[in-house]
Amino acid sequence: MTTGFQHLHSFLAYLALLGIIFSFVYALIGALSGRSFEEKDRKFGLFGLIPAHLQLVIGLVLYFLSPLGFANLSGETMSDSMSRLYALEHPIINIIAVAVITVGYSRAKKLTDSRNRFRSIYMFYGVGLVLILSRIPWAAWLN
Ligand code: HEM
Ligand code: HEM
Repeated sequence: MTTGFQHLHSFLAYLALLGIIFSFVYALIGALSGRSFEEKDRKFGLFGLIPAHLQLVIGLVLYFLSPLGFANLSGETMSDSMSRLYALEHPIINIIAVAVITVGYSRAKKLTDSRNRFRSIYMFYGVGLVLILSRIPWAAWLN
C-alpha cells in the first residue's frame, strides 16, 4: 500500500505544479487585461486548488506510511539534510503553501473589485508555488 501512495504522490506532484502554474498565469493575464472577474475565472482557480488539496491529503497519509516520514523523525536524523527534508521541511512548508493557496482562492471569491480578485489568485498561488518548489526532493523525484 505504501508503494501505491508513493507513486500517487509522485504523479500528483506533476498535476499540482502544472495546475498551480496554469491558474497563476491565467489570473495574471486576467489582472493585466483589466476585464471583469467572472464565474469561469473562479473555476480556473480550481485547476491549482484541487490537485493541491488532493496532494496534501495523500502527503499526510504517506507521512505516516513511508519510512522517510514520521518514522524517521528524531534528534539524530536532524543533522542529515535529506532526512530533515523528508521528515520535517517538505511536509511543513507544503502544508503552509497549500494553506496560502487556499487563502488566495477564498479571498478571490469574497472580494468585489475584479483586479483584486485576479490579484489574490496570482499573488497567493505565486507565493505557494515558490514555497513548494523550494522543498521538492528533486534528486529522488526526477530519477
Ligand atoms: C503540493 C504539495 C506537495 C508536493 C508538490 C509534493 C511533492 C513531492 C515529491 C515530488 C516527492 C518525491 C516523490 C518521489 O520520490 O518520486 C514527495 C515525497 C514525499 N512527500 Fe510530498 N509533496 C507535497 C506535499 C506533501 C505533504 C503536505 C506531506 C506530508 C504532510 C508530504 C509528504 C511526503 C513524504 C513523506 C514523501 C517521501 C515519500 C517516500 O518516498 O517514501 N508531501 N513529495
Ligand atoms: C486535509 C484536507 C483538506 C482541508 C483541510 C481542506 C480545506 C479547504 C478549505 C479551507 C477550503 C476553502 C473554502 C473556501 O473558502 O472556498 C477548501 C476548498 C476546496 N477544497 Fe479542500 N480541503 C481538504 C481536502 C480536499 C480534497 C481531498 C479535495 C478534493 C480533491 C478538496 C477540494 C476542494 C475544493 C474543490 C474547494 C473549493 C470549494 C469552492 O468552490 O469554494 N479539498 N478546502
